[in-house]
This record gives sequence, structure tokens and C-alpha cells, in this order.
Amino acid sequence: MTANETLAPVLQVVGLRKTYGDNVALDGVDFEVHAQEVVAVLGPSGSGKSTLVRCIDQLESIEGGAMYLDGELLGYERHRDGIRPLNDADVKRQQRRMGMVFQQFNLFPHWTVLRNITEAPIKVHGVPAAEAKARALELLARVGLADKADAHPRQLSGGQQQRVAIARAVATNPRILLFDEPTSSLDPELVDEVLQVMKDLAESGMTMIVVTHELDFARHVADRCVFMAQGQVIEDRPSAEFFADPRSTRLRTFLTRTADAPAREVGA
Ligand SMILES: Nc1ncnc2c1ncn2[C@@H]1O[C@H](COP(=O)(O)OP(=O)(O)OP(=O)(O)O)[C@@H](O)[C@H]1O
Ligand SMILES: [Mg+2]
Repeated sequence: MTANETLAPVLQVVGLRKTYGDNVALDGVDFEVHAQEVVAVLGPSGSGKSTLVRCIDQLESIEGGAMYLDGELLGYERHRDGIRPLNDADVKRQQRRMGMVFQQFNLFPHWTVLRNITEAPIKVHGVPAAEAKARALELLARVGLADKADAHPRQLSGGQQQRVAIARAVATNPRILLFDEPTSSLDPELVDEVLQVMKDLAESGMTMIVVTHELDFARHVADRCVFMAQGQVIEDRPSAEFFADPRSTRLRTFLTRTADAPAREVGA
């Protein structure tokens, strides 16, 4: 890796603004993620965490600000009169460089596990089928599901399905992986197997943004933690400082309440 690659952020978000009618979901969000960094995004319900990752992945339009992936403006192009939205093909090209893992897995139920993982590499990225299959089997082994290639999603537990969804996201070699509460819909006993896979990914050098309520994961796996409230970034600090020395009253209150909450209120 050259010095430049180390220094330039993989993802840069500047003054990001997103509204739904009169409701301001993101109110001038700034933050950066560098190569191989893991950033946890925490905050109360409705603070804009999902909106943030959905905007980064261009699943939502934005009302202001800008986002850059490896220095390339996302969603827009410069034009003699200013900027204009990119065409769909260019948006898709940018989306292909990111991977997203959702709370609800979003696997295709009528496809096998293997096909769920190989479809995008083959159809979208043009990887030869045999190569895509070999890579998918390797990834399945890595997430502990080597024997499930021919199963259908309904035959798997939630934790297994989410591990397949992670393998699928990794299969396209994304520059950055975005997770939106990947363990929130799982039964408590299945949470750890998914967090372990995410920890392994982090240790392998994957660049990740993880929206989560799992404070232990944020504390021990994330390099930095971002605390959001009411559409704004309130604190953005190295994880150790974030937990040991929260500056704002809002973060202190949030950490106390979340730590005191009954362990993992699944479905709450
Ligand atoms: N599709 C939508 N239409 C209208 N308002 C929306 C929509 N999606 C989100 N919002 C609003 O935007 C704000 C931020 O929502 P968001 O889902 O990003 O919060 P969150 O931090 O992810 O919350 P949670 O922890 O409950 O998932 C909220 O006020 C929410 O009601
Ligand atoms: Mg959310």
C-alpha cells in the first residue's frame, strides 16, 4: 500500500443532508472512513443511522452535501453549470464497489445459498462461473457454512442466513462493507456467531461501517465510534476514548441506558 492510499479516506461524507418532507433525517453529517478501518455508528432510534448508510449506498436521494468513494463523487457528476445526477448505469457502477448487509438478510428464497453468493459476481461483475463458485465455497467455509452451499435460505437459521448474506456481500470484493444492525433481528443465541464472522472480517483488513446496538462489538472491534442524535454526528472518537470518556451528556445517557437495558431486546 502506498502512503497516499493510507492517507486518503476510502469514504468521505461532507455536510450530508437528507429530508423526508419536513422531517430532517440527516442534518449536515461529516465523517471519513480510512482503509481497513472499522467504524461503529451508534445512536437512539430515529437518529439517522440507517438513513446514513442508505444514502452512502445510494438507496436514497440526498438534499445536500457530498459523498466521495476513493475521491470519486457519488451520485453526481460535475458539469459546466455545476453538478447533475449521474445516470443509472454510473450509479450502479459505484454501488458495485460497496457491499451492504441488512438486518433482514434479504437473501433470495428460491435460490440456493451458492447461487445467492455467485449471482452478482457472475452476472454483474463478469466473473467466470467456475471461479465465482470456487470463491463462494471458500467464503462459505470462512463463515462456517461449508456444508450449506446447496441448501435454501429457509433451511437455515437466522444466524446462518446472515452469515450467507455477509459472504454474498464480500464475494464482490467491495471497497467498503456497510452493515445496518446485522444482528438485531436474530435470536440472542445466534448473535455471537454473526459478530464473530464480522470480527474475523475486520481483522482481515476489510473496511467497514457498522450500525449496531452491540456495545461490546463497538468497543472491542471498531477502531472508531460515531454517535448520532437527531440527524447529527455528536461524537466521533477512537473507541477506547468514546467509552471511557464520553464528552456529551447525550452520549453518556445513551451508553448508560443501553448498557442497563435487558440484554438484546430482540424484536423490541
Ligand atoms: N422512508 C422514510 N419516510 C419518511 N421518514 C423516514 C423514512 N425513513 C426514515 N425516516 C425518518 O428519518 C429519521 C431517521 O430514521 P432512521 O431510520 O435513519 O433512524 P435510525 O437511527 O436508523 O433508527 P433505528 O435505530 O430505529 O433503526 C426518523 O425520523 C425517521 O422517522
Ligand atoms: Mg435503523
